[in-house]
Amino acid sequence: MLVLGIETSCDETSVAIVENGVTVRANVVSSQARLHERFGGVVPEIASRAHLAAILPVLDEAFAKAGCGITDCDAIAVTHRPGLIGALLVGVTAAKTLSFLHGIPIVPIDHLAAHLYALEMTAPQGGAPRLALLVSGGHTALYRMESPTRSVFLGGTVDDAAGEAFDKVAKLLGLGYPGGPLVQKAAEGGDPRAIDFPRAHLAGSRRFSFSGLKTAVLYRVRGWGARPPETTTGRGNAAFSSEPVLAAREKADIAASFQQAVVDVLVRKTVEAAGVEGIRSVGVAGGVAANRPLREALASACRERGWEMVLPPMAYCTDNAAMVAGLGWALFREGKAAPLDFDAFDHVA
Ligand code: KG4
Ligand code: ZN
Repeated sequence: MLVLGIETSCDETSVAIVENGVTVRANVVSSQARLHERFGGVVPEIASRAHLAAILPVLDEAFAKAGCGITDCDAIAVTHRPGLIGALLVGVTAAKTLSFLHGIPIVPIDHLAAHLYALEMTAPQGGAPRLALLVSGGHTALYRMESPTRSVFLGGTVDDAAGEAFDKVAKLLGLGYPGGPLVQKAAEGGDPRAIDFPRAHLAGSRRFSFSGLKTAVLYRVRGWGARPPETTTGRGNAAFSSEPVLAAREKADIAASFQQAVVDVLVRKTVEAAGVEGIRSVGVAGGVAANRPLREALASACRERGWEMVLPPMAYCTDNAAMVAGLGWALFREGKAAPLDFDAFDHVA
């Protein structure tokens, strides 16, 4: 069974054709990162317009790569939540149009559930529960995955998402956008023990917090030590936008120490949650799962305990339509096709 997947929730226009939920015949990703770079983050209206320009060429390219056409597809899966509403609507409208024109059933997809499904595409779980850490630009959360299509939310961030913290720190260090890969690269030349940044472990809870760490990086960059000067009181995030002037070595140390603090918190809380849930299979999904030190630290924590560790290939960590098509196949088999009047939503279900 062939499923067409469409993903436009943020700044990647992606179309995939996936066979039986796991065999990826094509997965085309057109990134808008270059368009948003000079703003240091995704500009929603620019994102919507770029999706509009890209969606048809990306569809054509995916079909050419897969060696098939729309009429060969048994179902269409499209991300309809959560994300930037104007961006989501481009994908949803394209999917509904194709569905209507060709009489192909359509399955609305939750973007977070699709990230989790990337674990299933990497290693089928065979019915056993899995502890999943989802770390992306918008979300940081732990789930108990009961099956490829059913996950129980255990806890998430109370402020910034891990990816958002990477992006803001990259901006503070003047590295560019998207921040994650650039912070990782800058960190390669630094010492992860150089600066003892705070780690919010929120002991015993499954919640995460990264805003204190982000502020500590800001103070470090500004050379303020532990406290900001009186004059910045009440300025909110304005202080995050100006370019710091730092020596390359100090930049690398800040990047490496920040990254280490994030990795420590993510690994510790994931392992703790798996222990409490009595689960011996751990997976990590979402854009930040592409972070090499995080992958290595989680893999070694699992190895020490004799647990299974599932790390999707990088291409299935950051936003992509293959995970959308894969989950679409699983949901379609469960009878989850929807009438054409379903909506798009910016918030989580
Ligand atoms: O899942 P994703 O592609 O989009 C959302 O659903 O948000 O995640 C994007 C996030 C961005 O914040 C980006 O900086 C981060 O993932 N990211 C990384 C790395 N690659 C992407 N963070 C740390 N290290 C990386 N190598
Ligand atoms: Zn995502």
